[in-house]
Amino acid sequence: MTAQIIDGKAFAAHLSKQVAHGVKTVKASVTPGLAVILVGEDPASQVYIRNKGKACAEAGIASFEKILPVSITQAELLIEIARYNADTNVHGILVQLPLPDHIDAQAIINAIDPLKDVDGFHVINAGKLAVGQDGLVPCTPLGCILLLKDKLGSSLAGKHAVVLGRSNIVGKPMAQLLLKESCTVTICHSRTEFLSQETRRGDILVAAIGKPEFVKGNWVKPGATVIDVGINRVAKADGTTKLVGDVDFTAASEFAKFITPVPGGVGPMTIACLLRNTLQAACAIHGVAFPLG
Ligand code: GUN
Repeated sequence: MTAQIIDGKAFAAHLSKQVAHGVKTVKASVTPGLAVILVGEDPASQVYIRNKGKACAEAGIASFEKILPVSITQAELLIEIARYNADTNVHGILVQLPLPDHIDAQAIINAIDPLKDVDGFHVINAGKLAVGQDGLVPCTPLGCILLLKDKLGSSLAGKHAVVLGRSNIVGKPMAQLLLKESCTVTICHSRTEFLSQETRRGDILVAAIGKPEFVKGNWVKPGATVIDVGINRVAKADGTTKLVGDVDFTAASEFAKFITPVPGGVGPMTIACLLRNTLQAACAIHGVAFPLG
């Protein structure tokens, strides 16, 4: 079998257009605004921020940026958060992770107004997801579930989904979202015994372990749908570098029915979902119906 590729780039472009249209429909009531805070000068994070700013502009979302020195204290960062919490032009606040070691990242995230927590990382939003209440959902898992629903639709129910990775950003919320779709969910991680036996049980396999090409072809159940969340930069023989996922794409394509590539799979969905969450937050704050609901 050679898998059909799930085109995340095309789906993300479609979703971004839907958000842009939604922004227009709520324009009389609110112009959604997203604030991004970056601590330090990590070049990869600077690229992300530039891309986020561009995507916001295309969708008609106002964007605000604060780049702060790596030496900033916890207390000073909390003041910046409080400013954006109080700013009525800002409906979404994203603090770029990772933060420097001297900062308590979860304390910073929990200082964000949960209504403006477009990353969905606040303990209130994580709790809402766990008990099945509506709230803001982390962008990457949301992007994965939208891709899965597009490909598999209502047939998600009853499927065995295996999530490889247990982070608060991807693995745990991904498992919650799959449960909500009535999948039977197994969460595996780096300490799981007989890992390949577990992954081979997945009709759906979501790889988010952060290790380049970790999942081998024969770890994939024949006919499975593989969602690769990994983005790893690796060296090539000629000295240049390339991006690869957490799955050996070529080998896994011989087993899977559907598979996301890297790049061009889950990655573009994350930013599109950030725009979606910002629109959702602005609508909730202003008591306007969410046009993509
Ligand atoms: N760093 C890597 N991924 C993310 C994300 O989804 N949100 C934030 N805030 N930082 C990140």
